[in-house]
Amino acid sequence: MTIEAVVDPRRDPVGQHVHKVGYANRVIKKRCKRRINKRSEAKVPMALQELYVSCREVFKGPGTVPLPHDVERLCHILDNMKPEDVGLSSKLQFFKTENAVKGTPRVTTTTIYKCDKFSLCIFFLPETAVIPLHNHPGMTVFSKLLLGTMHIKSYDWVSTSSAEESGQPSHLRLARLVTDSVFKAPCNTSVLYPTTGGNIHQFTAISPCAVLDVLGPPYSAEDGRDCSYYKDFPYDAFSDGKMELTTEGDCCGWLEEIETPENSEMDGIEYLGPQVVESTD
Ligand SMILES: [Fe+2]
Repeated sequence: MTIEAVVDPRRDPVGQHVHKVGYANRVIKKRCKRRINKRSEAKVPMALQELYVSCREVFKGPGTVPLPHDVERLCHILDNMKPEDVGLSSKLQFFKTENAVKGTPRVTTTTIYKCDKFSLCIFFLPETAVIPLHNHPGMTVFSKLLLGTMHIKSYDWVSTSSAEESGQPSHLRLARLVTDSVFKAPCNTSVLYPTTGGNIHQFTAISPCAVLDVLGPPYSAEDGRDCSYYKDFPYDAFSDGKMELTTEGDCCGWLEEIETPENSEMDGIEYLGPQVVESTD
């Protein structure tokens, strides 16, 4: 599949992805031949190449977190990135709200670049689509909303010792609400860290969205960085009131780990935007 495959969701019924691939390829050949030829000759957008080169320098691999000045450096690049830097445009049919699909809209993802230390991915969320509450174990993640309007809710775990005092049921874990806001592109980059910044988050598209994610390191089930999903409950639902004394002013909730939800399944599509020029060192 290609990015063009998400252009017209009315032609993208769930379960007909094979058909969709063929359709998408035909459309691209017909409409975009000239543009693709041009693209292969064109230079990589400076911002994307700068992002790639900086990621190579900043991400040191599993068990490490970028230093504050390196986080600033990546945020500065991402804050200034435009949809066009990764081959997107608000003019694409996918981003027109009148194309809203009936039923559960599926999220689509494409990978610009991936290595052991980091990955650059784009997520496409049709209107009302949800990426359910999930974690990023041991990872630092930069999320740049390129297009659309999105609600982001995020949590961090409250320290175990504090949570133990609260006497909550064992399948629940106390978490502090970090973000519960609507973001509209263009906006600044959000950063989450292994234990802070809202490591467990949920995206809900208010309009069709594209989010550029930089994950360092990427998910890896083999290396203990598999994705877990959660359901959240209001603090009051299970509280005996003790935690209010230890989390002054914070808004907390209870998270329960759940099986991978059906709406977390994503379609992977081929990335056809500008390619980064890989370093060889
Ligand atoms: Fe995420």
